[in-house]
Amino acid sequence: MNFAGIELAGRIVNASGTFDAIAAQKAFGDALRERFPFAAFVSKTVTLAPREGNPPPRLWELGAGLINSIGLPNKGMEAFLSEDLPRLAELPVPLIVNVMGSTAGEVERLVAAFGERDEIAALELNVSCPNVRTGLLIGADPGETAALLDAVRSRTAKPLIVKLTPNCASPAAVAAAAEQHGADAVSLVNTLRGMAMHPQRPRERWLGGGTGGVSGPALRAIALAQVREVRERVRVPIFGMGGVQSGRHARDLLDAGADLVGVGTESFRDPMAGARIAAELARIDANSGVAGATVQSA
Ligand SMILES: Cc1cc2nc3c(=O)[nH]c(=O)nc-3n(C[C@H](O)[C@H](O)[C@H](O)COP(=O)(O)O)c2cc1C
Repeated sequence: MNFAGIELAGRIVNASGTFDAIAAQKAFGDALRERFPFAAFVSKTVTLAPREGNPPPRLWELGAGLINSIGLPNKGMEAFLSEDLPRLAELPVPLIVNVMGSTAGEVERLVAAFGERDEIAALELNVSCPNVRTGLLIGADPGETAALLDAVRSRTAKPLIVKLTPNCASPAAVAAAAEQHGADAVSLVNTLRGMAMHPQRPRERWLGGGTGGVSGPALRAIALAQVREVRERVRVPIFGMGGVQSGRHARDLLDAGADLVGVGTESFRDPMAGARIAAELARIDANSGVAGATVQSA
């Protein structure tokens, strides 16, 4: 299949930040390359400068998922280019690099640097970040998202996928602005803001970052509704995710309007979840006679 100009062997891809391909390569060796669980690999968010991330605790388990306040720790653009990119380029699937900046200038530099690397098939823009000048969450505001795309679109010919946040009044309005200003695709949903109280200390919050992002099954119904709403507003392809644990869940997201499906939190329980979900989806599609149904090679 083709997603925004990227040739893919299947429709199941990892959600950014939930599968560490370099650690998995160390743990599983050649077996990972031979049976890579996803049809493309999406990197964790890379920022211009290194980030330490949030203080611990960083995770809280829910009845139906997880709240994380990891805070996007990463080694920064230069170290990613010199240390991680050569390893990720060895994966047997196309590479999508996820980037984030707090000004259009920062994102421009990231897009320009990654945009000229042949190892990278596409860029995903994580817009869940406040603009340091206006204080507005870039991805929560159609005007901010449009301005960001105006600044970065000309910096690369590679596909730009805008990752929408569910923490806003209208993800569909932001998706429409992204499309009008040159996005090749949109991805959704990112995590939904949540909080947990400390189980022992009255009035204290558990997570070091105060609040965090809810992911996993709790998000599934929200993802379905938002993908459907965005599908009704834009023509660009949609990379849908949120709480996918099975082929049935993936099929539901595709039926709601997604073209590609991301698996995130489920990979923490089972690193090969992507392969299992792809196989389940292929069986569902073969049994229902969906045209072009193929078993993903993973
Ligand atoms: C531990 C963790 C780390 C994440 N890191 C990132 C990240 O670096 N960049 C990003 O755009 N999304 C990040 N996400 C959001 C996921 O890519 C995805 O949008 C979200 O978790 C919903 O999918 P899921 O319910 O299948 O996990 C992260 C999610 C989790 C749980």
